[in-house]
Amino acid sequence: MKIIVLFGSPNQNGSTKLLVKQFEKGAIEAGHSVEIFDVTKAKIGSCFGCVHCGYEGPCVQNDDMQNLKASILNADMLVFATPLYYYGMTAQLKATVDRFCFFNSSLTRKHIKSALIAVAWNSDSWTFDALTTIIKRL
Ligand SMILES: Cc1cc2nc3c(=O)[nH]c(=O)nc-3n(C[C@H](O)[C@H](O)[C@H](O)COP(=O)(O)O)c2cc1C
Repeated sequence: MKIIVLFGSPNQNGSTKLLVKQFEKGAIEAGHSVEIFDVTKAKIGSCFGCVHCGYEGPCVQNDDMQNLKASILNADMLVFATPLYYYGMTAQLKATVDRFCFFNSSLTRKHIKSALIAVAWNSDSWTFDALTTIIKRL
């Protein structure tokens, strides 16, 4: 399987990175290929909400989302990796997800496998509820 990981932590030496590295190791050992795309370093503007794309068409912004779109649509599995920031994903990862807008139909049609790698300070059973609800509905 081709796996793409959207790495969403601005911390390059934290728990999210640790888990993503372990995930990558395991996936490669199991025969998969893994691309780690760091959304915190990429040039990805937040969605303007203009809906010029009509939810499937060219985006008015010309940035790293163009390459990322191709990688995602070419992958078999999409992994979201983020620390919990106020019960959700980081702003950088959310901005990236919002930009899925311009290939929304292609992505939905693809029924791509997905997974979430998330870390938090809190250990209550409900800590990840909001985040997992969002990811499940994407
Ligand atoms: C801006 C910000 C918001 C955070 N919000 C939460 C939160 O809502 N719940 C929680 O349990 N931890 C929260 N944390 C703690 C981080 O999720 C936790 O420290 C995580 O391990 C950081 O990931 P990293 O090691 O990849 O940087 C927050 C941290 C920051 C910096």
